[in-house]
Amino acid sequence: MPLVSSVEIFKKAYGKYAVGAFNINNMETIQAIVAAAQEERAPLILQVSAGARKYAKHIYLTKLIEAAVEDSGLSICLHLDHGEDFEICKSCIDGGFTSVMIDGSRFPFEENIALTKKVVDYAHARGVTVEGELGRLAGVEDAVNVSAKDATYTDPDQALEFVQRTGVDSLAIAIGTSHGAYKFKGDAQLDFDRLAKIAAILPGFPLVLHGASSVLPEFVDKCNQYGGAINGAQGVPEAMLCQAGTMGICKINIDTDLRLAMTSAIREHLAHKPGDFDPRQYLTPAKEAIKQMVKHKMRDVLNCSDRI
Ligand code: G3H
Ligand code: 13P
Ligand code: ZN
Repeated sequence: MPLVSSVEIFKKAYGKYAVGAFNINNMETIQAIVAAAQEERAPLILQVSAGARKYAKHIYLTKLIEAAVEDSGLSICLHLDHGEDFEICKSCIDGGFTSVMIDGSRFPFEENIALTKKVVDYAHARGVTVEGELGRLAGVEDAVNVSAKDATYTDPDQALEFVQRTGVDSLAIAIGTSHGAYKFKGDAQLDFDRLAKIAAILPGFPLVLHGASSVLPEFVDKCNQYGGAINGAQGVPEAMLCQAGTMGICKINIDTDLRLAMTSAIREHLAHKPGDFDPRQYLTPAKEAIKQMVKHKMRDVLNCSDRI
């Protein structure tokens, strides 16, 4: 089975379910997510941020994904998450990625369009799909912290113009989610009316939800119990993600939940076995925690199990 672009994945999913896009940094995370997708028979997007690429190196990540495809027999979409300029997108396209995100959301509308179109032209000539972003999420991406006051929700009319003028294959929209573990002060709220308007103005067009971790209490509690202090964390309720998956959101980005699953398992293991210094011993439960969490997301939240 090959690496695949997002075209067919989104065509099959639209309006029925969402596909998980999971952030990867290392072999353990890749193995755990791929094992979950295999068991669930779920379509899979693995995404790499600039930070992940710096941490693990492009060549290590692509070789690990190549191994994952060969070992699992799955088709996997390998996607660049939050590409900030043309150069990183080009480097990933030339280096074997099948999908890239160009995130021009920090720029004024016309500049975002020009940058995104430049990436689309380069990517499409090479069979690679492109995700753009319009509107701005609050929260932490790499080292950039976007404050709530700088976040802006996506305007539906602008979304139509953006898609028409850039030719992107999917669009990340801002409807109230944010990156990281601290998403809401008070009740969690997403602007579903806005999502419905964007989906109505762009019928059949794949939309993407970033900042979609649910910050599951079982992991936060475990992290706190075994060393702690993660206070005031709050994620997107899973019922809201289920709903979004039926309304045109085809791709749901999850990173924070992976970090919490992994870290809580390692903390628990080391709390019980403080003398353990064999990484294989504490990374084995970490992989299992990631796998079970991803299986749960696929089956109970995204509704993408048994789709391949
Ligand atoms: O959108 C942000 C993702 O969670 C990636 O995070 O840039 O720290 O790898 P990172
Ligand atoms: P979370 O921080 O909610 O996991 O969001 C991840 C994300 O949007 C990656 O692009
Ligand atoms: Zn994101």
